[in-house]
Amino acid sequence: MESNVSSLYIHFPYCKSFCNYCDFYSCIPQDASFSVFHEQIESQWKIVSEKLDSYKFSLLPLETLYLGGGTPSLWGVQGIEFLSHFLQAQRIALAPQCEFTLEVNPGAVSIEEIERWRELGVNRFSVGVQAYDAEALLRLGRTHSLEEVDELLSYLGKKNYNFSVDLLLGIPYQGRNLQREIEGLLQFSPTHLSSYILTVGEDYCFYNDLPGEDQTVAEYLFLVEELSQRGLLQYEVSNFSLIGKESRHNQAYWEQKSVLALGPSATGYLALSKNSAYRYKWTEKDLTLEEEFLSKAELYEERVFLALRTQKGIPLGELDSSKQKIIEEWGNRNLLKSLDPVVLTSNGFLLMDSLVLELL
Ligand SMILES: C[S@@+](CC[C@H](N)C(=O)[O-])C[C@H]1O[C@@H](n2cnc3c(N)ncnc32)[C@H](O)[C@@H]1O
Ligand code: SF4
Repeated sequence: MESNVSSLYIHFPYCKSFCNYCDFYSCIPQDASFSVFHEQIESQWKIVSEKLDSYKFSLLPLETLYLGGGTPSLWGVQGIEFLSHFLQAQRIALAPQCEFTLEVNPGAVSIEEIERWRELGVNRFSVGVQAYDAEALLRLGRTHSLEEVDELLSYLGKKNYNFSVDLLLGIPYQGRNLQREIEGLLQFSPTHLSSYILTVGEDYCFYNDLPGEDQTVAEYLFLVEELSQRGLLQYEVSNFSLIGKESRHNQAYWEQKSVLALGPSATGYLALSKNSAYRYKWTEKDLTLEEEFLSKAELYEERVFLALRTQKGIPLGELDSSKQKIIEEWGNRNLLKSLDPVVLTSNGFLLMDSLVLELL
């Protein structure tokens, strides 16, 4: 059986400096030309191409291409030139309607670079704002100022570009006014917003200043309500968008579609058949592959877990009778928006991890 793949993720691991809460793989660039990184991407692509051949996969023109990080906007002109050459040399085409996302950090991209990225094909920007409050930004160790956020978002908004903003909840800063922050962000007309609850270990430098669980839950439920009133509908635990502006790249992960990945720490996935999949992760340092094959049972568990994260949910019929009983009981706890398909309420999304444990 011949299979196809049409999504690619590239992880650009460099950042200007480290935010105090971050545990993603990132490092400070040592070489302004990024030549070592470019060589890594080229050698990784060779290995990925061999995998595609050996599993009889065809690479179609990309429907989604996502440049994440790290801070990929720091890649700048070198990145644009490298990618333009790399995509052409490796015959990686973009489908006419390809969703091409670039993560950008305020203060780490110029207007000229935004326009150059657009010439390359970028048509979606994901802006790492995190907090629309000057004090909160300082507290998180972000390098950007509120003025830089305003400058970038007002440009993207004025140009009517398609962009998302990232916002953190549950941060160690007590003076936050979330309503004012949401209004501040929405004045620029983002089409999408991602919001994550800060997850840190006990060794986090501001661990003792984190808000209690009740406050974080209240922030999350407030955000869901405020955004929905303004047309940004929740379509996944952490993601909100105008209708039709959902991230197609992320949907590919949630729907267990094949996604290739390049760059240190990036994870790729090939859906080999209905009952098996191959997942690989590039290690951070020596860029070797950690590989895993998923069985039918593992794929099913992931299917349930991933589908429950979304507003599409999962048809009740995909669950056996003992699971259906557990789910019916969730209804009595105000955790179900719909029974068939099974769709969780926002309260249910907050309890996602423990609900999945109950079920699986
Ligand atoms: C790895 S970052 C990439 C974007 C960009 N580097 C930035 O920081 O704006 C992706 C998103 O993960 C979220 N994130 C980072 N560290 C987190 C943490 N410890 N807990 C929860 N979310 C986190 C942030 O909202 C961030 O925008
Ligand atoms: S910019 Fe993003 S990836 Fe880089 S250190 Fe900060 S949170 Fe982590």
